[in-house]
Order: sequence, then structure tokens, then C-alpha cells
Amino acid sequence: MPPFQPAPFPAARPRRLRRTAWMRRLVAETVLTPADLIWPCFVIDGDDRAEPVETMPGVSRLTIDRLVAEAERARDLGIPAIAIFPYTDPSAKTPEAEEAWNPENLVCRATRAVKAAVPEIGVMLDVALDPYNSDGHDGIVRETAQGIEIVNDETLIALERQTLCQAEAGADILGPSDMMDGRVTVMRRALEEHEFPHVAIMSYAAKYASCFYGPFRDAVGSGGALRGDKKTYQMDPANAEEALREVAADLSEGADMVMVKPGLPYLDICQRVASEFSVPTFAYQVSGEYAMLKGAMESGWLDPKLGAVESLMAFKRAGCSGILTYFALEVAETLSRN
Ligand code: PBG
Repeated sequence: MPPFQPAPFPAARPRRLRRTAWMRRLVAETVLTPADLIWPCFVIDGDDRAEPVETMPGVSRLTIDRLVAEAERARDLGIPAIAIFPYTDPSAKTPEAEEAWNPENLVCRATRAVKAAVPEIGVMLDVALDPYNSDGHDGIVRETAQGIEIVNDETLIALERQTLCQAEAGADILGPSDMMDGRVTVMRRALEEHEFPHVAIMSYAAKYASCFYGPFRDAVGSGGALRGDKKTYQMDPANAEEALREVAADLSEGADMVMVKPGLPYLDICQRVASEFSVPTFAYQVSGEYAMLKGAMESGWLDPKLGAVESLMAFKRAGCSGILTYFALEVAETLSRN
């Protein structure tokens, strides 16, 4: 064997395409724009008030008037949709969660106000009972000899009422986040039968039983009430194949779009779902992910602008159509200045 001879020049020079900003832009495989973002926000009762969420620095619960102003800002930044979550007064919570289908509940009032003032922005609402349930669960809780059970089919009746109430209030997208079996069928049928055929369903199809939801439960005030955990309905973090079955089921039941949640720790699931099903696939960069990144940013350990954009670009690279993120407004601002 002759001694190793290096070539007189490298056979390929990938760095050619990285030399200048314009070249990097020219060959970029992925883009992140404000149109990829959905902004999840929290609403409280009252006037002209913002109440900081302790575990989510930079995030506040807003009164409806303030929320409308922020929705205008989101629209002006090019954000297509917002997802509104209510902080329900504990006195309105009951074991059967009846407040979920009260047309005068906080989230319905907020939706009407946003749609009246900012009709150009989409409003997405969760379909799940946890903001209204005195047991803190997404479904109805029954005592059994073995302990508590989150009952599936009785919950579906409540979810159907909540679906129609929220569609009536003007929601454009409904996001079943409860992980009950068969909920998309019930919702789609109810929407068709009651002349809301245009309301889209973005199902939280692969939603894991995750500790990364902790700060959100603080924000909507459901964490304190929660009895036990959500492992009998949300997915086991050990499973990936099951996520594909969940997505297939929700699509066959009539979902228009699907979501994977949490986001970054489940990027493998995002990629598999996006590549195996040709439907818009979204990721939810959840409260705990936000808290983690924001905490490091506020400590000066992570660049605040680059950190948020890079974390969101990862979802686009994995094949997602868009991302629900608490960084939506600040990232849209960063992108619009570029
Ligand atoms: C409730 C719901 C949760 C989130 C969105 N809808 C929490 C949960 O399932 O306990 C989490 C969002 C976040 O953590 O940012 N069904």
C-alpha cells in the first residue's frame, strides 16, 4: 500500500455556502416566520390589569381589554392565531365542570371581544375540562372502590357541550387537549349537526403525561386542585409507536391538524408524525420548556433572541407546520426586525 497522500485540495468545500449572510440565506433549507406561530395567552376577569405568572417570567394573565390590545399587536406582527386559556375563579369550579359550557364564561367573553375587535386573527380554544373541574382533571372524576377514575364516555358528553358553546362564541379552531378516547368523533359530529362545519379541529393527538406542564397549571390555577396525575389518559413518555396510532385515529375521526406536545423533548415524535402523515403538524413548546429557556435567558446564561429563534427553528426543520409558543410575540418582533 502506498503511503496516504492527501488530495492537493479538499474534494468538497461546504464552507463555500456558509461564507456570507446572503449565501446562507440563499441555501437555507428552512425558514421561520411569524406565520408559523400561534400565541397561547392567559385571560383573567377584571379591567386593565396584567397579573404576572410567577413560574413563567415575562408571561401575564391579562384582562379582556388588555388581551384585545395584545391580539392587535399579534396581528400587526403577522401572527395568524392565538390560543386563549382562562384563569377560572375557583368558586366557579365544580365536579361536573358546568362552567365549561356557560356561554358567559370568561373564555367565551374573551373570544367574542377578540373576534369583534380583531377579526383578522384566528382564535383557538382548548376543549378539556381542567380549567373548570374542581378535581383539576381534563375529564370527569368518579370515586370507585379502587380509587378515582377519570370516566371517558361521560366526559365526552361534557366535551360536546363545551365544543358547541365555544363554536357559538366564535372560536375558529378547537383543540381537544383532554386525551379522552373518541372525542374528535363527538366534536366533529356536533359541529356538523349544529352548522359549524367550518370550525377546524387541531387535535392534541400525541399529548404526553409530562412534568413540563407545571407552570401552565400555575397560570390557569388548575395545579393546586389536581388529584393524582394524568397518566391514565395522557401518553407515557416511553412510547413513540403509540403516538402514530393516536394521530391516525384522530385523523380518521375528523381532525384537520394534529399536534405533538410537549415540543423539544419530543422532537423525534414531531418528525415521525410530520413525515408519516401529510397533514399540518404542530408542536406545542409548553410552559416548562418556556420556563427553562427563559430562566436561563434571564440569568444571562443564554442569548434571549437567538435562543428562542433557534429553539423554534428546530420544529420547522423537523417538519412541523407551526408552533404554539409563549415566545410568539417576542420572536415575531425579532424576525420582523431582521
Ligand atoms: C389542559 C392543557 C394543558 C396544557 C394545555 N392544555 C395542561 C395539562 O394537560 O395539564 C399545557 C400547556 C403548557 O404547559 O404550556 N388540558
